[in-house]
Amino acid sequence: MRKYLLLVAAALLLAAPAMGLTIQGSAHDLSNTTGGGAAGDIDELCVYCHSPHGVTASVSAPLWNRGMSNATQIYSGVDIQATYDLTSYNATDAPLCLSCHDGASIGGALTNPPNSGGALYSPALGADADLGTNLSNDHPIGFDYAAIDAGSGAGEDSEIKLITDATAAGVQFFGASSNIMWCSSCHDVHDPANVPFLLVDNTSSNLCLACHDK
Ligand code: HEC
Ligand code: HEC
Ligand code: HEC
Ligand code: HEC
Repeated sequence: MRKYLLLVAAALLLAAPAMGLTIQGSAHDLSNTTGGGAAGDIDELCVYCHSPHGVTASVSAPLWNRGMSNATQIYSGVDIQATYDLTSYNATDAPLCLSCHDGASIGGALTNPPNSGGALYSPALGADADLGTNLSNDHPIGFDYAAIDAGSGAGEDSEIKLITDATAAGVQFFGASSNIMWCSSCHDVHDPANVPFLLVDNTSSNLCLACHDK
């Protein structure tokens, strides 16, 4: 009977639809039992980014439990129709990501440290993950995607797919209008299934082709 149940369970597992993985055990798990933290580091993981109480207030930061680190320089581009500036960049989630990925702030105090205690995550970021605050060599963000998509008028780009087609392909847009491009337009911080934390598997550049008509 037990063997039979195990077989049924195994069959159900095999038949289960493909699902996202969990953040637990991923590069974004900074705890020390399941994640990359060292002994004595805080043994929770959400708390490194969110807390249910006493958090940093900001419209772009969901219950954010850290400081923010603003971008200082932005991509200037070769043939850009999108409109953005430093202020619009820093109204995205970039300052949340850079609160670790600027290479300097990851050891900074949490806004509301956990009652369970423990020291802050102690390992350093690898060179690839250290973006600094100069985003002039990174893909542009911080603009209204729907303002330029698939148009032929002034300020529009005929080789950028319609926002409805892009979201159907799996990317996301944010802000009050739900049209603004963030880091999380390409990344899902919670799901390591498509390395590195991508919303769309980039095999054959499928992520790029979600937005670019090339
Ligand atoms: C490394 C930082 C980080 C960690 C760790 C993290 N989050 Fe998030 N979370 C974010 C960021 C950044 C956003 C905003 C971008 C977005 O909406 O995906 C967010 C958004 C959210 C949201 C609102 C939007 C949504 O996706 O539903 C919820 C709910 C959430 N996180 C829950 C959690 C929980 C629960 C955990 C722990 C199991 C967790 N997060 C761990 C960074 C993190
Ligand atoms: C979520 C949508 C989206 C995704 C995914 C995306 N891009 Fe873009 N990309 C854009 C938009 C919008 C622009 C701005 C186009 C404009 O201003 O005309 C842009 C601009 C660019 C530019 C032009 C920069 C210039 O200076 O003119 C390049 C090159 C580029 N992206 C490459 C990529 C590559 C490579 C990928 C995949 C790794 C990718 N993009 C993924 C939306 C996206
Ligand atoms: C609490 C700190 C923290 C925050 C906030 C954070 N990250 Fe990370 N992230 C890390 C650490 C630590 C690593 C692992 C770095 C390493 O291996 O050197 C990492 C790795 C990554 C990787 C590489 C994953 C891989 O498989 O190699 C990506 C992509 C990434 N983060 C994107 C983001 C984005 C996008 C945001 C914001 C939406 C964000 N992160 C916010 C700490 C953070
Ligand atoms: C247009 C899509 C797109 C946007 C927007 C984007 N990323 Fe990425 N990111 C990628 C892709 C694709 C990779 C994997 C590159 C590779 O493997 O060649 C990546 C890799 C990374 C890595 C791993 C290190 C590396 O360079 O390979 C980090 C960390 C990261 N992104 C953070 C961010 C942060 C922070 C933002 C916002 C400031 C951001 N990303 C915005 C597509 C994007």
